Amino acid sequence: MMGLCTPAPTFPPGTDLTGKSILITGAASGLGYQSAASLLSHDLPPAVIFLTARTLAKATTAISSLPTPTQFTNPTKVVPLALDLTSFASIAALPASLAAHLSPSGALDILLLNAGIMAVPPGLTADGYEIQFGTNHMGHALLTKLLLPVLQRAPAPRIVVLSSAGHKAWPQGWGLKPDSMKTDAGDLSAYERYFRSKLANVLFAREMARRHPGVLTVSVHPGLVVTGIVGSETPWVMTAAIKVLGPLVMKSVEDGVRNQLWACVSDKVVSGEYYEPVGVAGKASKDGKDDGLAAELWEWTERELAAHGY
Ligand SMILES: NC(=O)c1ccc[n+]([C@@H]2O[C@H](COP(=O)([O-])OP(=O)(O)OC[C@H]3O[C@@H](n4cnc5c(N)ncnc54)[C@H](OP(=O)(O)O)[C@@H]3O)[C@@H](O)[C@H]2O)c1
Repeated sequence: MMGLCTPAPTFPPGTDLTGKSILITGAASGLGYQSAASLLSHDLPPAVIFLTARTLAKATTAISSLPTPTQFTNPTKVVPLALDLTSFASIAALPASLAAHLSPSGALDILLLNAGIMAVPPGLTADGYEIQFGTNHMGHALLTKLLLPVLQRAPAPRIVVLSSAGHKAWPQGWGLKPDSMKTDAGDLSAYERYFRSKLANVLFAREMARRHPGVLTVSVHPGLVVTGIVGSETPWVMTAAIKVLGPLVMKSVEDGVRNQLWACVSDKVVSGEYYEPVGVAGKASKDGKDDGLAAELWEWTERELAAHGY
């Protein structure tokens, strides 16, 4: 029996990542960085981790502080790549940089769509989308589209999308308010804009699973985890409370990373689901289970990407 102080294992027993390739977005800090660190330290580690960050310099600096396990004969190769999700041009440049480092089969096994922003001031991405929706959903949707051919070369490809239980706070009955997706959506609060983007993450994974059954795709909530995600539009009382009480009542990043890593490897994962920690299904909001809304978001997104030539 597990003692009270024994930490839960990071990976399900028997997890073997030998030969696998994994790309992580937003991996220079927080849950993305910890995902890379945990994967590297696993006793059967992957062949390659593509650690992406807004700039190559940031990705390279992050890699220099990762653990360097010495016990493996074939340690993981960690490759830094630049990826700024607010810019379609940056996203479109990634597949070519990635191809240079893929194995001869040219396959990518796991795509961990982890990057995100929360409660930042109103703004637009370089391509004109509301900044939180544009970064958290549109950027990842384009990346997925462009990486689909290399994912489909893998024997059992997976996509794991970081959502949030916060998606349930998006008011039922509002739809997705597409009219404000190409504005700074200043009529919505910073948190409402975040909740919408996280609902989009749930719906994107659900519809991706339906349209591409050969690629196992899920969304996850990590729990409330102490990271740098708290944006400047957060009310000061909440910021202060998180600062003081966060380390006592919130999860450490080592614990918070467990759900997304479970989703990357477990054979219990069901495509299209949304999981709360760890591996708990069925908890998406009513909107998050709405196939009509998922299809609407997918078609809207596809039209926008096509209009930009993707
Ligand atoms: N922490 C929580 O309690 C919690 C709860 C629910 C869901 N989540 C989700 O978990 C995911 C990871 O967040 P976290 O808590 O680890 O926060 P974090 O420490 O702030 O990490 C987010 C990462 O995303 C990157 N990022 C932001 N904008 C980007 C862009 N335009 N292009 C590329 N990368 C970008 C950040 O890079 P920069 O440093 O360059 O900005 C950072 O490395 C997010 O999707 C978040 O919504 C977190």
